[in-house]
Amino acid sequence: MESYKFNFTDIQRNKLPKILVPTRWVENLRNQVVFNLENDFQLQIRRMESDDIDQVMKLEEQIFPSPWSAESFSYRLEEKNFNMSIVGLSDNRIIAYAVSYVVFDEFHFSNIAVEKRFRGKKIGETLLWLSLQIGVEYNCSFVQLEVRESNRQAIRLYEKYGFKKTGLRKNYYARENEDALLMSKEINWEIPYGMV
Ligand SMILES: CC(C)(COP(=O)(O)OP(=O)(O)OC[C@H]1O[C@@H](n2cnc3c(N)ncnc32)[C@H](O)[C@@H]1OP(=O)(O)O)[C@@H](O)C(=O)NCCC(=O)NCCS
Repeated sequence: MESYKFNFTDIQRNKLPKILVPTRWVENLRNQVVFNLENDFQLQIRRMESDDIDQVMKLEEQIFPSPWSAESFSYRLEEKNFNMSIVGLSDNRIIAYAVSYVVFDEFHFSNIAVEKRFRGKKIGETLLWLSLQIGVEYNCSFVQLEVRESNRQAIRLYEKYGFKKTGLRKNYYARENEDALLMSKEINWEIPYGMV
């Protein structure tokens, strides 16, 4: 399979290879993009496809107390022009994913998950950053997401990327009786990787 490789340190310095100039992400992700993360960890990323749902569901059920159903993923993946979900793979096995979609000029970042034993390697950050780039490519001017009030790791990740708390959705996670923070941020091509 054709793929484009680039190094974590290049991305951190915002030195993207010429082949990955802005507005080419979505096209490149039809195949896959390979990120060399720290310690030479190779993360393959491509668009999420219907055939991925079984693998994604295994992670979803391991990770979330109220997992989405396979039908929810399937329904969203049918909306090819709006659904921008991506999967992260190691040795061709899905170890992470990010679900997002375009609603007019809003980019909605619905979910992100990294398999437990692969956490702390900048995989979540890479998927978030790339998703935001895709949002800009689709002419979105801002991004919104909901996150559990108690989810410290995810909130830290979003704050690192400049998200601010813009609202509270009462009892959003009804089964666990937990509120969601609504977090938002404006987006443009200037989102640096490794933003603090
Ligand atoms: C949130 C999650 C996706 C982060 O993925 P990850 O690959 O482990 O995170 P990264 O290595 O890319 O870390 C990037 C940043 O996230 C934050 N972060 C990640 N893990 C953290 C932790 N254990 N404690 C505090 N902050 C953390 C930090 O800001 C970190 O940047 P830093 O290393 O410069 O401090 C992962 O913990 C996960 O899958 N959690 C379960 C699913 C979930 O809660 N999803 C969010 C739904 S809204």
